[in-house]
Amino acid sequence: MKRPRHFHRRIRNAAQAARLSSNPATLVSPKPTTSHGLCYNTEPCITAAMAQLRPMQNEKPETPQAVFWNRVAHRYAAMPMRNPDAWQETLVRTHGLLSNGDLVMELGCGTGSTAVRLAPHVAAYTATDDASEMIAIATQRGEGIASLKFAHARPGDGSLPPGPFDAILAFNLLHLLPDLPAALKEVHGMIKPTGLLITKTPCLGGIYQGLWPLIRALQALGKAPPLRFISPTRLENMIREVGFVIEDSDDLPRRPPSRFIVARRS
Ligand SMILES: C[S@@+](CC[C@H](N)C(=O)[O-])C[C@H]1O[C@@H](n2cnc3c(N)ncnc32)[C@H](O)[C@@H]1O
Repeated sequence: MKRPRHFHRRIRNAAQAARLSSNPATLVSPKPTTSHGLCYNTEPCITAAMAQLRPMQNEKPETPQAVFWNRVAHRYAAMPMRNPDAWQETLVRTHGLLSNGDLVMELGCGTGSTAVRLAPHVAAYTATDDASEMIAIATQRGEGIASLKFAHARPGDGSLPPGPFDAILAFNLLHLLPDLPAALKEVHGMIKPTGLLITKTPCLGGIYQGLWPLIRALQALGKAPPLRFISPTRLENMIREVGFVIEDSDDLPRRPPSRFIVARRS
């Protein structure tokens, strides 16, 4: 019987997840493991420990994005994963695209949840973020992972490590960037020829546009970051316009759509 393509992909992913679960640097089963049951981490909860941390010294002026994300960093670290299954699938699929010898950079790494799981499977993984508080939390989480280092850096101001990289990753970030076309162009120039850009982005353009007044109200109250509503099609076109070829794209999850895109530098 001829099975649809996604059937085989699911089976492959399940097999991969099973293999990875026997590895100490596991990618699978983000189950709540803390006494408060909030954190979907395989490592012990660090929320209490992080409360003791002093803010990291800031070497450069804060962007409006960094002001927001620094303020919410500890709450973000303690928040339950909204879509653990979608996150799990994102991790497994991303891992399947990376090789042991790869040099990888992640943009907007947040508290490092993805970085600590993927870094043990590549040669070198540099996780970056615009918010020094996020980097401070992520650095604690990543302690002891030899291939992982962190940098307080963002696209647009020359602060990103130079590369070139085999793959650049950005999860839940592109809709937050103030100048997305410029950032995509910069990233394209930092990837090796035929290397990959792997991203996942909440895409609230199109039918979700009606949420805009609510977002504006939340922004006015300081409860939502500066962001853009972008449709999946527009996002994919922007990625193509700077010179990538899109090899795979999928919504993880479907509602509201978060577009997982694998793009190869051409
Ligand atoms: C929604 S969180 C996502 C964190 C992580 N990638 C994840 O999926 O859990 C967005 C992250 O992007 C960072 N960020 C926001 N604007 C940024 C920018 N212009 N450059 C780099 N990072 C940025 C924030 O500090 C925050 O850590």
